[in-house]
Amino acid sequence: MEIIVNGGNRLEGVVEVNSSKNAILPILAATLLSNGHIEINKVPKIRDVKIISDLINDLGVEVKHEQNKLVYNVSDIKNYPSYELVRQMRASFLVMGPILAKKGKVKISLPGGCAIGTRPIDLHLKGFHALGAKIDLSHGDVTAEASNLIGSHIYLDFPSVGATENIMMAAALAKGSTYIENAALEPEVVDLANFINAMGGKISGAGTNVVKIDGVNELKPVNYTPIPDRIEAGTYMIAAAATGGNVLINNVIPEHMKAITAKLVESGAIVEEESNAIRVARTESIKPIYIKTLPYPGFPTDMQAQFMAYLSCALGSSVITESVFENRFMHLQELLRMGAEIKAEGRTAIIKGVKKLTGANVKATDLRAGAALVVAGLTAEGETIVGNSIHVDRGYENFVEKLNKLGADIIKK
Ligand code: EPZ
Repeated sequence: MEIIVNGGNRLEGVVEVNSSKNAILPILAATLLSNGHIEINKVPKIRDVKIISDLINDLGVEVKHEQNKLVYNVSDIKNYPSYELVRQMRASFLVMGPILAKKGKVKISLPGGCAIGTRPIDLHLKGFHALGAKIDLSHGDVTAEASNLIGSHIYLDFPSVGATENIMMAAALAKGSTYIENAALEPEVVDLANFINAMGGKISGAGTNVVKIDGVNELKPVNYTPIPDRIEAGTYMIAAAATGGNVLINNVIPEHMKAITAKLVESGAIVEEESNAIRVARTESIKPIYIKTLPYPGFPTDMQAQFMAYLSCALGSSVITESVFENRFMHLQELLRMGAEIKAEGRTAIIKGVKKLTGANVKATDLRAGAALVVAGLTAEGETIVGNSIHVDRGYENFVEKLNKLGADIIKK
C-alpha cells in the first residue's frame, strides 16, 4: 500500500479525533479481568485494534466490532496468545497481566525487536515476579505462573507505560495492596485505571508516580468510552502548522496536549484552546526550536518524527533529542531523500532548516515515521509516494480521507 501526496495545499477546516489507540489497547486487555457483556465505545477501525481483537478472540473470548463499538462477551480464557498474533504487535503483551490474574498462568512468545528498538519486557516480568509469579524463559517463550498473586511494592527502573499498565492489571485481582513506584504518568495509564475502577477495582494515584492498587475478588463488566487520542490530535496540529493552514481539531483534551502546544507556539504557530477542541494556524515562518522527548508530561516520543518533518523547513537549526527509545530516527534517512538537511549523532539530531522539501519516493518504517513522511509530503514541492503505508493504518483511521477533507491533494493506492 502507498500514500501519494502532491504538496503545497494549506490545510483548512475541521477534523474529528478518535479515541486513543494507546488507551484502547490496554483497556481491551483489561476486559479479560471481568466476565460478561462489555461495550467499548468510539473504537476506531485501525489495524492495532484488529490485531488485539483477533488475539482476544484467539483466547476463546468472543469480540465483535459493531460500527464504532467493540462488544465483548467475556467468558473463560481457554487458550494462550498465539505466536502469530503476538509477533505482529508489541502491545499484545498487555494480555499477560489479565491472563495471569484470571488463570494463574500465562505463556507468550518473547518480544521480537521492532523498528524503534529492542523494547524488552523485563520491567513487566519484574512486576509479576514481585506479585509472587514464577517466571520461566525457554524456547523463545516466557511463562508466568502463580496460584495466588499477593500485593507488593514494585519500583520501576524506568516509568514504562506498558509495565505500569500490565502490573496494574495483574494487581487488580491480587490479595492485598500493590504499590507501583516510579510509575508512568501518561493519560492512557490514568484511563486504564479509570476503566478498572469502573469495573469495581480500587486503584488510586494513577497519573502520579506512585500508583496504589487494592486487590478485589472480582471485576464486573461495564460499558466505557476511552479518552481522545492525543497523538492523532498532535499529528493534525503539526499538519496544520506545517502547511501554514488553519485547522480546528475536535475531541481533544487540551490538558493532554500541553507539551505539543508549547513547542508549536515556540516555533511561531498560533494555538487556541477550547474546552474539547484546539485550533492551530501559522502565518509566520517556522522558528527553530529545541526538543527533548521524555515520559509524560514531557514532550511525547510519539510526536518526535512529525516535529522533525515540520522543523525541516524552519528558519535555522533545530535540535531533537530522543531520550525514550534508542533507535527512533529511522524517518531521518527518508527525509534526507526529500532534501532535508539533518545530521544525527547518537540520540540527538540537528535539523538545519531548508527553504522547501521536494517530493520523493519514501518508505514508512513505523507508525509515526509514516505519519511524519505524509506531513513532509503535504509541504513538499511535487509528488511524494509513501510506501509501506500499512504502518500508518496501525494508528490513524481514515488518515487520507481526513486530510483530503482538509484540502490536501492526497490518495491511497
Ligand atoms: C507505549 O509503548 C506506547 N504504546 C508507545 O506508542 C509509546 O511510544 C511508548 O509507550 C512511550 O510513550 C502503547 O501504549 C501501545 P514503554 P511501551 O514501556 O509501553 C523501555 C505508538 O506509536 N522498557 O514506556 O512499549 C523500552 O525499551 C507507540 O503509538 C524496558 O527497558 O513503552 C523503551 O526504551 C510506539 N523494559 C522505554 O522503556 C520494559 O520492561 C519506553 O517503553 C519496558 C520498557
